[in-house]
Amino acid sequence: MEERIPQHVSIIMDGNGRWAKARGRERVFGHMEGVESVRACLEYAVEKGIKYLSLYAFSEENWNRPKDEVMTLMELMMKSMKNEIGRFMKYNIRFVVLGNRARLSDSLNAGIDAMMAETAGNTGTTCVVFLSYSGKWDILQAMKKAAASLSAQEIQSLEIQDFDKYLVTAGIPDPDLLIRTSGEIRISNYLLWQCAYTEFYFTDVLWPDFRKPQFQEALDEYARRDRRYGKVK
Ligand code: IPE
Ligand code: IPE
Ligand code: MG
Repeated sequence: MEERIPQHVSIIMDGNGRWAKARGRERVFGHMEGVESVRACLEYAVEKGIKYLSLYAFSEENWNRPKDEVMTLMELMMKSMKNEIGRFMKYNIRFVVLGNRARLSDSLNAGIDAMMAETAGNTGTTCVVFLSYSGKWDILQAMKKAAASLSAQEIQSLEIQDFDKYLVTAGIPDPDLLIRTSGEIRISNYLLWQCAYTEFYFTDVLWPDFRKPQFQEALDEYARRDRRYGKVK
């Protein structure tokens, strides 16, 4: 049987802290190992011809974590970009960061802009990293953007597809498959609007242990799903 490959796979990468704790290590150790899982999954997405791999790396709510953990995560983001740029060019991967960029430091924003610009012309897989993102924030900023650029009459005639254009994900197809690791069965304010018809896959595997075989299991499960979109088949 031909494998049904999703166009857009999104992952809520959860469980780094518990992974580290189980080994008697600091939480940062789990985040570092989690970067290895990102590398493995991105490599697999390229191999499989998945057009969009999006990753929830840091939520708006995650700003409420202890300052040193927040700082560590931001530094890890910066370091990973520097380490990975070569691979992104080699494998023709486009890099995109979406979220509330105003809350990020100037140096991180500059690093992100540079990496996005350098990879902008790449035509293979797009890797979207959601940083300082939340679904409610996205819908609200979209509403404000629409209100600022449209007349009251234009707003009245706004269609659902038109509203899509004001979300930070404009131009990116909605996720076909959303994976969440670590056994939590929730979406934690992630892509609320965009996941309207997404297939959900929850696994107990902690993010640092989620590598190619676990990714393939999720893809196998997706291939077995029957997507009906409210119709009768
Ligand atoms: C996911 O792992 C990484 C981020 C949310 C930044 P966690 O840090 O949430 O790990 P747990 O859930 O505490 O195990
Ligand atoms: C969700 O993970 C956000 C990311 C993976 C970036 P959390 O670990 O912060 O989620 P909750 O708070 O347990 O739902
Ligand atoms: Mg967590």
